Amino acid sequence: MFRLAAWAVVVLAAVGASPGGRVENVLEEPSGRAENILEAPRADQCTGFANSLRFDCYPEDDASEEKCQNRGCCWRSPDTSSTASERVALNIPYCFYPQNYGGYKFLNISDAAFGKTAYLQRGTKSYIPNDISIIRIDAKFESQSRLHVRIYDPSKERWIPPLPEMPQVDTKATNTDYDFVIEESKIGFKVSRKDDSEVLFNTQDLGGLIYADQFIQMSTLLPTNYIYGLGEHRAHFPLSTTWQRFTTWNRDIAPSEYTNLYGTHPFYLAMETSGKSHGVLMFNSNGMDVLLQPTPALTYRTVGGIIDLYFFLGPSPSDVVKQYTELVGRPFLPPYWGLGFHLCRYGYKTLTETKAAMSRTQQAGIPLDTMWNDLDYMKDQNDFTYDTSTFAGLPEFVDQLHTDGMHYIPLIDPGISASEASGTYPPYDRGVELGVFVKDSAGKPFLGKVWNPQSTAFPDFTNPKALDYWKEMLTTMYKLFKFDGAWIDMNEPANFLDGSTTGCDKNSLNSPPYTPAVAGGALISRTLCMDAQQHMGKHYDVHNMYGFTETIVTATVLSEIRQKRPFVISRSTFIGHGHYSGHWSGDISSSWSDMAWTIPELLSMSVFGVSLMGADICGFNGGASATLCQRWMELGAFYPFSRNHNTKDVNAQDPASFGTEVAESSRKALLTRYSLLPYLYTLLWAAHAEGSTVVTPLFFEFPSDKDSYAVDTAFMWGSGLLIVPVLTEGSTEVTVYLPKAQWYSFYTGALLSPGGANTTLSAPLDTIPLLVRGGAVLPMQTPATTTTAARKNKFGLMVAADPSGAATGSLYWDDGDTLGTYEQGAYNLITFTLRDSQLTGTPTHTGYTGESMVLGNITVLGVSSASSVSVNGASAPFTFDSSNKVLKMDSLSVSLTDAFTIKWS
Ligand code: NOJ
Repeated sequence: MFRLAAWAVVVLAAVGASPGGRVENVLEEPSGRAENILEAPRADQCTGFANSLRFDCYPEDDASEEKCQNRGCCWRSPDTSSTASERVALNIPYCFYPQNYGGYKFLNISDAAFGKTAYLQRGTKSYIPNDISIIRIDAKFESQSRLHVRIYDPSKERWIPPLPEMPQVDTKATNTDYDFVIEESKIGFKVSRKDDSEVLFNTQDLGGLIYADQFIQMSTLLPTNYIYGLGEHRAHFPLSTTWQRFTTWNRDIAPSEYTNLYGTHPFYLAMETSGKSHGVLMFNSNGMDVLLQPTPALTYRTVGGIIDLYFFLGPSPSDVVKQYTELVGRPFLPPYWGLGFHLCRYGYKTLTETKAAMSRTQQAGIPLDTMWNDLDYMKDQNDFTYDTSTFAGLPEFVDQLHTDGMHYIPLIDPGISASEASGTYPPYDRGVELGVFVKDSAGKPFLGKVWNPQSTAFPDFTNPKALDYWKEMLTTMYKLFKFDGAWIDMNEPANFLDGSTTGCDKNSLNSPPYTPAVAGGALISRTLCMDAQQHMGKHYDVHNMYGFTETIVTATVLSEIRQKRPFVISRSTFIGHGHYSGHWSGDISSSWSDMAWTIPELLSMSVFGVSLMGADICGFNGGASATLCQRWMELGAFYPFSRNHNTKDVNAQDPASFGTEVAESSRKALLTRYSLLPYLYTLLWAAHAEGSTVVTPLFFEFPSDKDSYAVDTAFMWGSGLLIVPVLTEGSTEVTVYLPKAQWYSFYTGALLSPGGANTTLSAPLDTIPLLVRGGAVLPMQTPATTTTAARKNKFGLMVAADPSGAATGSLYWDDGDTLGTYEQGAYNLITFTLRDSQLTGTPTHTGYTGESMVLGNITVLGVSSASSVSVNGASAPFTFDSSNKVLKMDSLSVSLTDAFTIKWS
């Protein structure tokens, strides 16, 4: 079900109804390093630890032997005989947990209706203040493939993110793919895969289990070094397990390696040695470090909430993603127009400049669906206004775009100007009246400073009243000009100050006993004070959900105002984001390396269930060169969300601004994209309906081929199309590892190689290599320069035979904009099957009659010979390219909503 509006209203209202369900953190003076002092370990407890078995007992910067021993830990210099060849984020710890590191002991273990339950008690104090002395483990066998392990304080409610709403499962699945092992003699638990006994997660007797009010730490052994996810970060797709730290704390920062970025997704997918896969979600919204070390092992270190783990047993990687999005929300189905090309920049200072960039794009014949404006359109950079002098005529411009079948998206910041003269700026006055702003510790609107002239207040999107407030604001703006979507930026939330205009109080939230390795060194860095109050809880707990709650509210309100599918692109994200909106990867640079980094980011977001993902094509910060922008436009034509965006005060980088060559390459790549939009749309529908991936990592399709596990310079659309961009300047060829399959050139139809090896593909400057995989049927459509025009054209099919001469595929089609079409059955679904030189089309659902769907052409790749073709029994014209083995029928007129058969011999 497309559960957006109802879901958000119900959940936000429910949260509003019982905010007291969650325990408020008690504010204390900063505990700083006033640690409990423990007894130093005996020497024999510290011997025999290989480097990889050291679990860091002193992650802070100021470690010393004395401080280490005060934590009851071992201090030894690491064995440096084998030095890592790659850059590591962390040093091999000098200070590590000893054998038999005291702490919790089981009080009892018992069976429960949902699975197993156990209580543990702490014998000795940890070095962190406010240990929780009794903790409880509930292992819920939620389904055959999903296990839920919750470790919590049984005597006092602690913070658990209310969103995304997780199911309450209280009965146990009888048949499970996993074993949950818990034994009184070993502290912790184990999860293993039943059919091959692979141990997937093992915390038993690993030192360092700490469960204190503001510091929770648990380590586990892992069965593999192939770990993916743990976002949002800039990292290679398979994460390095060589002493790496992935910190999640949503932050406005230009992406670089080894730092927290805009979003939080503490979910990983692992590839086991058998080629099977599993996933693990740590459902926690607090600031967190996740460490990977070569053992292989992982450590969670969070400063609040509880340990709330969900295990997904796969066994294929795509099963894992399906199981994950089944829990956190399937990706939303965007409007069809949103799949067109988008053009934007910070620094179209006037409407005239906006129009100029648009018209040079159109004059070059480059497809373009949506124009965007950044802050520039606003009066004084204040939301819900437009500058009636520099952007005079904006409403008429937007109307004209609509007449031309195009769309318009403005930027909206969450921050509301708090220093306009009273009575002159309703967004602030109404916000105060309704009490919807985040409050400071004294209960007044929390004031920071973002783009607004003097100070900024922040709507609290966890407050149910924010829904009405935001609707009022967006409706007022909609009356000014009829925007079609929302670009929500700066919602980490970003602040140009560390805390409020008057700083932050000194207490245990603003300065917790442990601070994860966040950029800026403090949780308050470039955001709000942690003791700021939101309806759902303290900012300390809900910080990472700010952008997510803004997204839910914005998407809900947009769908109510426009009565059409909401198109929202948000910079900040949280677990479950893809159910509501898309994402772009923020302020990346116009450089070759940043272009390459967009691919692992795209792949990771796909694993997190964010299907509508893109990066600023040609880069945001810095000026792009023509050669870079040429290749980046080719790559960006295959981002699901395809937008060229640029910062101000650098050279223009819209594709027509570099002259004919870049314009021509962009046009070619985007026309290819537009010809493939029925395929892309079908993939987005399948993601929405079943949780499959749109951008698909190569190894998802070849999970038993280990050589595919590290590929992050190429990606697939679904299972049928491989995109291999050129990522180095001046190259006219590109090498990629191709797993064993039939791979055909998209452009010529020639069979390339049997795969199973690195393969070099020719890539003239105006061409991005695209390979079609044998076995796929790609639904296509004659392109046009807008999706509105393209949707009127005839469909096509590209059919690629596998070694047995077979292929399958499908086409999902609806009106592309109405809410809930799939759920209401207002769509057509046609499946295609190739076998024995016969292609059939079978409409399996026909609920959409808005347009006739006519198949105009078919290209079949891998046909050994063809001397006659019949369409529904009548002979039909065709051409056959015997050298490339391509059969083409170009002048068909076959109704796709009726069953059809095409045969050749
Ligand atoms: C930061 C965003 O990431 C960027 O895309 C935008 O142009 C600027 N804010 C200005 O609004």
